[in-house]
Amino acid sequence: MTACQRYLRTLELARSGTKLNLRQIEILLTPPDRECEKQLFDAALKLKRELLGNLVNLRGLIEFSNICSRDCFYCGIRRSNPKVARYTMSEDKILHSAALASEFGYGAVVLQSGERSDRKFTEQVTDLIKKINALPNPPAITLSCGEQSLATYRQWVNAGAKRYLLRIESSSPELFSAIHPSSASFTARKAALRRLRKAGFQTGTGVMIGLPGQTLHHLAKDIKFFRDMDVDMIGMGPFLPQEDTPMGDAANDPETIRRRFDWSLRMIAVTRLVLKDVNIASTTALQALDPENGREKGLLAGANVIMPNVGDVEYRKDYQLYNGKPALDENGEAIRKQLLDSLRRIGETPRWNSSGDPIHFIKRTGGDEKI
Ligand code: 5AD
Repeated sequence: MTACQRYLRTLELARSGTKLNLRQIEILLTPPDRECEKQLFDAALKLKRELLGNLVNLRGLIEFSNICSRDCFYCGIRRSNPKVARYTMSEDKILHSAALASEFGYGAVVLQSGERSDRKFTEQVTDLIKKINALPNPPAITLSCGEQSLATYRQWVNAGAKRYLLRIESSSPELFSAIHPSSASFTARKAALRRLRKAGFQTGTGVMIGLPGQTLHHLAKDIKFFRDMDVDMIGMGPFLPQEDTPMGDAANDPETIRRRFDWSLRMIAVTRLVLKDVNIASTTALQALDPENGREKGLLAGANVIMPNVGDVEYRKDYQLYNGKPALDENGEAIRKQLLDSLRRIGETPRWNSSGDPIHFIKRTGGDEKI
């Protein structure tokens, strides 16, 4: 039997619904050649289309503040980067962006910011959630504002937020501590993920791919972690060194970049096969590595969510978590137009005006699972 035939046997197991062990997940992440890799992507896309249709959920992304109390070694808006001009968008501007997302038919927004846990901030977010929900035809609200107390998470759920994204960044405690200062704890991050679920959020997590020292074995464990945590949504993408951070001089030669990109697509595909009915984002970081086709390739590897920016262009340059962020000077309208063209090209359809709840969440909470 050839290596590819052996590979396809494991792929077939995944397709038939067998619960894969860690070793088998790692095998799937390691196709022996490009032809086998193509079969992996095709199998993941087929499963995505069977479970979720030819549909892509759109969420308008609003990066509403870059003020951050954390000092993550990889992130461009870390507290101790003095080069960043700090901003918080005015409430009017945020509401305007949310209304625009709804006008565009996106059906949902993601409010993302640096992490703060002071009362002024948590109350401001609560107010925002209420005001967005009071808009005519309000978009569903996803938050991405870091680790918070259970009381804060509950307050935000009660105000009307539905979903929350909090990446574990790496499920390996060693890698996690290598990329964070000692004030950040892996255990605390995991506990925050549990609190999100307890508070009633549709819960999303994810990792960065291609971190220094990270192997496919780590990434296989990440997928197992997603399954064990029973999350509803996944957002992950390549690690992109940001020059003003302690990890800014990490390897960034063409071969490393290529590997980060390939591994990211494989992670999307294998995560789809293992987790099945969750929402998986094709992230901006993928597009940063391949501006023409990155996002599209993510969708063709089994992702079903895209988060086009709807915030003001004036803030875009101050929210660069990594180098090479795409669409730095394009407004929401231009981004929307490109997005529609590219979805058409790959035979996917936007799911207009839908909040786009993950089927996984609907099932685990006992709802009607029809899409
Ligand atoms: N490269 C890729 N992704 C990054 N993020 C932050 N910095 C980088 C970087 N340099 C991701 C993290 C974070 C999310 C909001 O952005 O995974 O959770």
